[in-house]
Amino acid sequence: MEQRSYSEIVRDLMGDYRYEHSVNVAAEAVELARLYGENEEKAYTAGILHDITKEFPKEEQLRIITDFGIILDDVQQKAPKLWHSISGSVYIQTALDVTDGDIVNAVRYHTTGRANMSLLEKIIYIADYTAQGRTYNGVEIMREKSRSSLEDAMIFSFQFTFQKLSSEGIAIHPDELFAYNDIVLNKRG
Ligand SMILES: [Fe+2]
Ligand SMILES: [Fe+2]
Repeated sequence: MEQRSYSEIVRDLMGDYRYEHSVNVAAEAVELARLYGENEEKAYTAGILHDITKEFPKEEQLRIITDFGIILDDVQQKAPKLWHSISGSVYIQTALDVTDGDIVNAVRYHTTGRANMSLLEKIIYIADYTAQGRTYNGVEIMREKSRSSLEDAMIFSFQFTFQKLSSEGIAIHPDELFAYNDIVLNKRG
């Protein structure tokens, strides 16, 4: 049987809009990988796969997560938007046999970030915000920052995210706070 590419697999699992987003994130991740010295193929793979389960029904995502033995914490239980990063990281291992832990973690933490993120994890986190097609207040600043410092870009995105979550009265996942603190405390210069 001919092996299908990740792009073909992803194409069948989501609508046009999200597929285009996935392609754009992959391209953006490759560009950042080139700029910051990460493996471009890994960046492409993590980028094209990052939202792979986003359009799966919520119940199916929960099943994927639970069957893998993962127990959602309080914040995650109340935030279905976070589920696709967890279910996606499981799905690429179980259904697509992705064994590269860095790629798995880049998908796993693309929504919240976490402390001690690898270069690839940061690239996917940022590429999701700076990819072509993204339009939000501040996207140009975010793109500009991403070209000079991934850490500065991440701080900018957390400022934006924390403000939004707190103004809407939504809980902030500890991983996001740990990611923010880690970057702020360890930033050079
Ligand atoms: Fe996502
Ligand atoms: Fe995304």
